[in-house]
Order: sequence, then C-alpha cells, then structure tokens
Amino acid sequence: MASQEQDPFMGEGGEDEDTLIMAPLLVEKLQEAGISSSDTKKLREAGYHTVEAVAFTPKKQLCTVKGISEAKAEKILTEACKMVPMGFTTATEIHSRRSELVHITTGSTGLDTILGGGIETGAITELFGEFRTGKSQICHTLAVTCQLPVSMGGGEGKCLYIDTEGTFRPVRMLAVAERFGLNGEEVLDNIAYARAYNADHQLQLLVQASAMMAESRFSLLIVDSCTSLYRTDFSGRGELSARQTHLAKFLRTLMRLADEFGVAVVVTNQVVAQVDGGQFAGADAKKPIGGNIMAHASTTRLSLRKGRGTSRVCKIVDSPCLPEAEAIFAINANGIGEPEE
Ligand SMILES: Nc1ncnc2c1ncn2[C@@H]1O[C@H](COP(=O)(O)OP(=O)(O)OP(=O)(O)O)[C@@H](O)[C@H]1O
Ligand SMILES: [Mg+2]
Repeated sequence: MASQEQDPFMGEGGEDEDTLIMAPLLVEKLQEAGISSSDTKKLREAGYHTVEAVAFTPKKQLCTVKGISEAKAEKILTEACKMVPMGFTTATEIHSRRSELVHITTGSTGLDTILGGGIETGAITELFGEFRTGKSQICHTLAVTCQLPVSMGGGEGKCLYIDTEGTFRPVRMLAVAERFGLNGEEVLDNIAYARAYNADHQLQLLVQASAMMAESRFSLLIVDSCTSLYRTDFSGRGELSARQTHLAKFLRTLMRLADEFGVAVVVTNQVVAQVDGGQFAGADAKKPIGGNIMAHASTTRLSLRKGRGTSRVCKIVDSPCLPEAEAIFAINANGIGEPEE
C-alpha cells in the first residue's frame, strides 16, 4: 500500500505539530524492539495496525490472534507499552493535551456554542432522535467541515462514512463544499464510504477503518446509523443479550479508534417508544436504542427534535463537561446552518 501520492493531510515530518501529536505508530515499529516481522504481519492481519492498538488490548485477547502464543503476547505487550505512554500522568499534562484537541464545526453557530466549539475529536458523539430530525443531515455537513483547516473549525482530515440505511447522498456534500469554498471533487475524494449490510459486517468494517487511519490522516468517522442493523439482525427478547454483547464490542472498537487516532466519532441512533416507562413516562416518551451499553459508550449524547419548518432543536443530554443546554439550528439546502429569524 506504499502509495506515492501526496496526502494533503499528512504534512511532512516535524512541520505540522498537530500531526505529530496525533500520528500513530505503525505496528511494524515493534520490529525495532525485537518482535519478528512475521509476528507483526500476523497482528496486522488480525486488525492491529498500530502499536497503540496492540498496547490497548488485553493479553487474553491478543492470544486469540492466530500464531500468537501467550508468551509471545506477553513480550509483544511489554514492548508495545514501552512505546505508548500508558501509566499515570499529571492533570497539567492532560489539560495541555486536551487543549490541543480540536472541535469540528457543525455548520450552526448555536450548536457549536453549546458544544464548546463543535464535535469533539477523540470522543464518541451520539445523535439520537426521531426520523427527519436531521441526524443524517448533520453527518453530511460534518463529512465536509472535518476537512476544513483548524482555523476554520475543521479537523484537517478525511472522513470515513459507514452507512447502514442507504441514505448517503454525495450531492448534499457538494452543496456544503461550495458553501465553504472547497473544491467539490476533492471533498468527495476525501470521503471514504462503505455500506454495511449486517451487524457482523459493520464491525468488520472497523478493521479496515483502522488500517486506513494508520495510512492517512482522518479526522472523522461516521456510523449512520449505529443501531439499525442490530434491530434487524437480533430480534426478540431471546436475542437481547447477544445483541448487547455485539453492540458493546462494536462501541468499544469505536472508542479505541477515537483514542488511537484522535478522530471524532459520530454515531446516529433512533428512538423507540418506551415500553417499560409505564404511566409516568408521558404520552410520547421515546428513548434511544441500545440501553445502558449505548449510554455508557457515548461521550456526549445529543437529542434532536423537530421545531417549526426547517428548524430543529438539539439538546445536550449527557456530557462529561458541558452543561445541559439547547440550541436551534436549521437544515438548509447548503447543510446545517442558522434558523431563519
Ligand atoms: N436538499 C435539502 N435541502 C433542505 N433540506 C433538506 C434537503 N434534503 C433533506 N432535507 C431535510 O432533511 C430532513 C431529513 O433529515 P435527515 O435525513 O437528517 O433525518 P434523520 O434524522 O437522519 O432521519 P432518519 O431517522 O429517517 O434517518 C427532512 O426534513 C428534509 O426536508
Ligand atoms: Mg438518517
């Protein structure tokens, strides 16, 4: 995969500090620590493309890689952990690292303001709401704005888009590109698209995603929708526990990608009528799919609902450092933007 093409987002060694901070170590780097090339090849084939991916994996799981014995896994982990900082650090250090994390603009000033600048990188943001509340439209706008320079609210990286519902429309992205003065053709070239057909496939695509992220600079990973295939693949009460286990694994992998590559992960989710809320839940109480597993995995949860006309309301319902707040935005022809006064 040694492409000679220049990646506009990769920068050249040393010049771009952001890239330096984010740049992951390719798994082959372990060879310098005495791990054989045949072993790094096995790791790569199993989806571990970076030293970070290896270091963040429990030994038990590493042993399941074909050809990696327990003793080998132990040695590999020891070396990986030497290369990736894994111990305690000071709050000062974390504070300074966090201040370097960029936010990606949603296209709406109101929304960006309540989000502290936009969608956070290195974390999972969940958008949930009923149909036509703008979940996919926000994804389409972000797929473009994530490519903008940091000074314009972007993440200076490509976008990876996993679509489970067949609602991906490049033409919507062209409109957003034009609005931000970007070249439409280049913008579309920087969006890697995959349609997922079942829950296993959806999980499998993340292995490819990590390979692509190790090769070039991505700033955003979208899964629209995160849960719909789980609803169709696992039906009924009897399969609930299998469904939750599978979903948990998918979300854990997403979190690993967010940590490892510093990308923003945006997932969408539908809502269902609350069956166990009883009479106290209110007439139209709806809750997002995925239960506790989904709730815990998302760093920030945003609830969307319809407003008047093209306007929509977004509410922060769960965030580690943002207060509960609401903002009104609109779905415009050129993407997410300001509502009409
Ligand atoms: N070109 C456009 N210009 C303006 N508004 C548009 C355009 N295309 C779609 N919309 C609006 O976007 C809304 C649909 O939003 P979106 O597809 O993001 O919903 P969603 O939340 O993803 O729903 P679902 O749960 O069905 O996936 C519709 O109200 C539609 O009118
Ligand atoms: Mg949608």
